[in-house]
Formats: sequence, structure tokens, C-alpha cells
Amino acid sequence: MTRLTSLSHGAGCACKLGFNDLTDILGHITPAGDPAVLVDASTRDDAALYQLSEDRALVATIDFFTPIVDDPADWGAIAAANALSDVYAMGGTPLFALNVTAWPRESLPFSILGEVLQGAALVCREARCAVVGGHSIDDREPKFGMAVIGDVHPAQAWTNSGARPGDVLVLTKPIGTGVITTALKRDLIDADTLAVAVACMRTLNAGAARAGRTVTVHAATDVTGFGLLGHLRNIVKSSGVAAEVDSSAVPLLPRVTELAAQGAIPGGSRRNLEAMTEVRWDDGVNDLQRSILCDAQTSGGLLFAVPGEDATALVSALEREGTPAAAVIGRIVKGELGAIEVRA
Ligand code: CO
Ligand code: CO
Repeated sequence: MTRLTSLSHGAGCACKLGFNDLTDILGHITPAGDPAVLVDASTRDDAALYQLSEDRALVATIDFFTPIVDDPADWGAIAAANALSDVYAMGGTPLFALNVTAWPRESLPFSILGEVLQGAALVCREARCAVVGGHSIDDREPKFGMAVIGDVHPAQAWTNSGARPGDVLVLTKPIGTGVITTALKRDLIDADTLAVAVACMRTLNAGAARAGRTVTVHAATDVTGFGLLGHLRNIVKSSGVAAEVDSSAVPLLPRVTELAAQGAIPGGSRRNLEAMTEVRWDDGVNDLQRSILCDAQTSGGLLFAVPGEDATALVSALEREGTPAAAVIGRIVKGELGAIEVRA
């Protein structure tokens, strides 16, 4: 039986194109010039917002990647949770989804694709999101993901913009899926460690978003291919502020530090770290910790910036929802625009 991850050149969202490459290209693309577009790619938000009426906007997003685990149903489930996550990160409710599939029709049985699609369908059912169709092509390297459409009241949408000095940063899942899935590809991992990471990746961010609704949210995103610090950078740049992160407060999946020390760091995470030129690292933050804070995540948690007085209430609400983590990891501060200070 072919191991699905052996057909993949990258690990989940770690196969995303680099931040700087994308910035260069997107800067040259003609904007839509449509007043109904409330949010587009220019603020690096998780999804686009398209206004339909005074009280309703569509949330639109697409995400797909190569096999991240060997179990086809798990891959489908993780890809679905990851695609749905961008709707939750905007404060939206998923409505329906379309499958995006590339499949090596000569070399990989279609029955395996069936398991991928079924894994995704079950997660979408849990999200009460209808799967209504899709598109597939023949490709040497398998790929799967979804385009998801949701809706939100335009005044209640969460974006990267809006974080203010005094806000507290709260993260809802532990970090390290890039390290774990790279360790899987290199046969460095045990079944239990993998199972914890898979369960975390297939967990919907629906509960985290519900918890966010109980407090004031100034900015929100989900942590995926650019890593924790890369997505935090999107928030601080879009909001015109700076941030401090306490590296010891960032929750990690089991064995992540040990596996990273054995070299299980995906190329995408290395590229993320190289691109983080605006970070000031305390001397006590070692190279492994730096890589992990930039580790490309697949289906990571939500990262909230909330007023300081709401932080405790948000953490409690997240705990009631049973999110994989509910951790205060830093704060928004005044300072050089876009700067991030990482403390030991
Ligand atoms: Co996102
Ligand atoms: Co995305």
C-alpha cells in the first residue's frame, strides 16, 4: 500500500508559497474595484468578505494541499477543518463547500479518493456545512481541499485590522503540526504523538469562534502556513501596532521540541523564519524555539486580540468549549509598526 505522505513534496500548509513571494506578486494585481468587496487580499485576511445587503456579507475562502497524513479519511478531515477555519477566523458561519481535487488516476485507486472525500464530508456535516460539488483533475501528486462559503453580519466580522495597544493575545490550539507531520514523513514519530496532532488538526475552530463571540474581539486570524509569528505579523501590520510574545507561554503539541531538535522542521517553516525580519528575539530564545514559533501550521487554532479586561472571560469560554488550548501568549503594544518582540 502506497503511503500517501510519500507522494507529497511538502507537509500540509507548509507547501504554501512564501510570504515575500506572494507580497511581490499580489502588489501588481489590479484590484477588483467593486464596492461590495469589504475585505480582499490586501489586508492578508483569512477570507474575502463580499457584501450582499446591509446586514449580510458572504465569506469566501479556498485551501488545499498535498497529503499531510497517510490515513485518507484523516487527510480529508484535516483539509476540511483547515478550509472551514478561515470562515470561523472571520467570525462567520460556514454555509456550503466545494471539493478541490488533484488525483493520480493511473497510480492511486479511486477508492482512496472516496475515503478522503468521506472524511471531509463528515467534518463538514459536523460544521453544518453542505458539500455541494467540486472539481477534479489528473495530477501526479495528489492534492485535496475545499472552497468554503459562509456568511457574517458585516459589522460583526473579525479581521486582521483593529488590534489595539493593551489587547491580549489568546491562542486556541497548540503549535507544532509542521514539525509533527515532517517527523511522520521521516519515520521519526510514534502512533500516540501522531494521534494527538491529528485530533488537534481535525478539531473545528467552531468552538473557538463561539467563545470569541462572548467577548469583544478587536482582531482575529487562524494560525496556518505562515506560522504563529507570521500570522501575528499580519495582525500587527494591518492594525498599525506592535506585539510582544512570551515564548514560554506558547502551548506546543507533545514531543515537538524533541522532534524539531532531530531536524524535523519543514522547508516552509524555515522560509517563514527567514522572512520574519521584523522580529526582535530575546537572547534566551534559542534557535529551536524560533523555528517552532514560525512552524507552518495546518488547521491551527484561532489567534485573538481582545481587550485586556476580556482575556480571562475568553480563556474561560474557550475552556468551556473544550478547545485544544486556551492560552494567553502575549500582548499588543505601541511601538514600531509591525515589530514583534519575542521574550524567553
Ligand atoms: Co487563515
Ligand atoms: Co487560507
